[in-house]
Amino acid sequence: MKKVNVFYDKLYYGFPVILVSYYDTDGTPNVTTVSSSYTLRDMMALGFSTKGYALNRIKEVSDFVVNIADSSQIEAINFCGKNTGAECRKFDSINLTPVPSKVISAPIIEECPISIECRLTDVFESQNHYGITNILAKIKGRLVAESYLSESGRLNPNAFDEVLYIGDGGSKGFRFMK
Ligand SMILES: Cc1cc2nc3c(=O)[nH]c(=O)nc-3n(C[C@H](O)[C@H](O)[C@H](O)COP(=O)(O)O)c2cc1C
Repeated sequence: MKKVNVFYDKLYYGFPVILVSYYDTDGTPNVTTVSSSYTLRDMMALGFSTKGYALNRIKEVSDFVVNIADSSQIEAINFCGKNTGAECRKFDSINLTPVPSKVISAPIIEECPISIECRLTDVFESQNHYGITNILAKIKGRLVAESYLSESGRLNPNAFDEVLYIGDGGSKGFRFMK
C-alpha cells in the first residue's frame, strides 16, 4: 500500500459521535457533542477541550450520561458541537428529550438508542498536552433500545446506526453504519 506523509492538525479515524448530557449547576439539562471516548469494563474515558463549558460543569456536578447518537440526530450533533452551554440551554434548540436517570443525577436522552450513566472519578491535565482534559468515570448503569438487541437480549451489531466522525482538522466528515 502506497502511503504519503500528511501534516494535519489531527487525524480522527472514525469515532462514534456521542451526546454527553448533564444537569447544569442550576438543575437545567444541558448537552454537548463529543467524539473522543472509549470504554473498558465499567470505566468510561472522555477527552475534552479544557475550556469547554460541559467539561467544567461536569467537574462540578460529577454525573453525566454518554448517549450514543444515531443518524437521525445529525442536526443535534452539529448544533451541540457548534454552540456552547455557556450561552444557551441546548435542549431548547434541538428536538431531543432529556429525562431523569434513575441511578444518577443526570438526564438521559430519550431518543438515543444507548445511554450510559456515568459518575466522574478522575480528571487528567498535563503540560505535555496543554488545552486537553481527559476524564475517567465509573459506569453506574447502561440502557439499550430493545431494537438494538437480539432475541437472546444481547447486542445486535447489525441493528446499530451510529454516526462515525472522521476529520483532519481542515475537513469534517461523518460516516453512517447503515
Ligand atoms: C462531531 C463532533 C465531535 C466533537 N468531539 C469533541 C470532543 O471529543 N471533545 C471536545 O472537547 N469537543 C468536541 N467537539 C466540539 C464541541 O462539541 C464544541 O466545542 C461545543 O461547542 C462545546 O460545547 P460546550 O462549551 O457546551 O461544552 C466536537 C464537535 C463535533 C461537531
